[in-house]
Amino acid sequence: MQKSSAVSGFYKLSPEERLGFVKEFADLTDDEAATLHSMRTLSLDKADKMIENVVGGISHPLGIAVNFLIDGKDYLVPMAIEEPSVVAAASKAAAIARKKGGFRTKYSGSIMRAQIQVVDVDVKKAAKAVMKEKKSIMKKAAEQNPTLLSIGGGPKDLKTRAIKTPSGSMLIVELYVDCKDAMGANAVNTMAEAIAPIIEKATKGNVLLRILSNLATERIAFASATFDKEELGGEYVIEGIIKAYHFADFDQYRATTHNKGVMNGIIAVAMATGQDTRAIEAGAHSYASITGRYRSLTSWKKDRREDLVGSIELPIAVGIVGGSSSVNPSAKIALKILGVKSAGELARVMVSVGLAQNLAALRALVAEGIQKGHMRLHARNIAVSAGAKGGEIDKVAATMVKEKAVKFTRAKEILDEIRK
Ligand code: MEV
Repeated sequence: MQKSSAVSGFYKLSPEERLGFVKEFADLTDDEAATLHSMRTLSLDKADKMIENVVGGISHPLGIAVNFLIDGKDYLVPMAIEEPSVVAAASKAAAIARKKGGFRTKYSGSIMRAQIQVVDVDVKKAAKAVMKEKKSIMKKAAEQNPTLLSIGGGPKDLKTRAIKTPSGSMLIVELYVDCKDAMGANAVNTMAEAIAPIIEKATKGNVLLRILSNLATERIAFASATFDKEELGGEYVIEGIIKAYHFADFDQYRATTHNKGVMNGIIAVAMATGQDTRAIEAGAHSYASITGRYRSLTSWKKDRREDLVGSIELPIAVGIVGGSSSVNPSAKIALKILGVKSAGELARVMVSVGLAQNLAALRALVAEGIQKGHMRLHARNIAVSAGAKGGEIDKVAATMVKEKAVKFTRAKEILDEIRK
């Protein structure tokens, strides 16, 4: 039977009790649980092989977001982040989404694109020459990764684009590679380098850059969820969230902060599972401006029942094989806790968390604003009923709000003091 990720009062448990729950949920071994508990998850020896000039390591807190129900499956979501409230906010939003069936997601597939920059050519002729060699280019690319090929991945297509730049016209040759469950940067870059000589020979030009693009428009994850009106705090809050979304969608300064909130969730899961967080971040912000205007990564509207429906869509290039996720023991354990079976499933969880995070942030921003507004209004009413007139009303109300004591007796006292 599938275990449920819905837990109330998880935050009230001790770290050891929480770990016990996670161990049971994800069938962690004693060793795996002990590794997390020790907070010493990466040995110096391993670290020294990952990057250069290693002198030690740095730890992040690893929290677990609860309540996530995604496409009918329960998830405990590991999140590594230094900022308070993020894990609690995601859990809260997931609990609200759960009431209406949780998150519904889609994934376009794990296609990454390599770019080969050809300069000093007549771009039209060069494009034709490249396409004439398409078969041999694809074959050469495929030969670079027999393992990927054996599981149905590898190069899938080749296209060309011409761009005009201050350095003159250039031909950009783009190789599309299905990376399956790997993030794929190494595989794709190796292919790009391997096919470059064929392209150079065919075009009689010069190849400069041979590198993948982090704007992974062929690797899009999508999630949507419905949030119950009453659970959110009523119509005011829903209207406020929609207006807050429109603010972000039409103002780049707000959109950046709005999307930062989305990335709080996505990057925390990426950190926990050992992903290249910069690749995800770069792709997300580039995708946010793909229409020519930097916009919100999420969108919000009301449905026929007046509940709030949110959706999110962005490129998520992540892997569950290869890279740091296979080396770092805590990343491996985080993937086991999540129980994801493919890179696509991980991407679908990540966008769900991003959507939950955005909902939680907007709700808090809107509701607090509303509360403050209500408080001011209430204070003015009390001031009037205590006998304040004209300019006295705002003075009495402001003092009561400042003192957080909005009461008839206090209003009378303040009024007496003012009149003295
Ligand atoms: C803080 O880390 C994230 C927020 O600023 C996001 C937002 O403003 O939407 C709260």
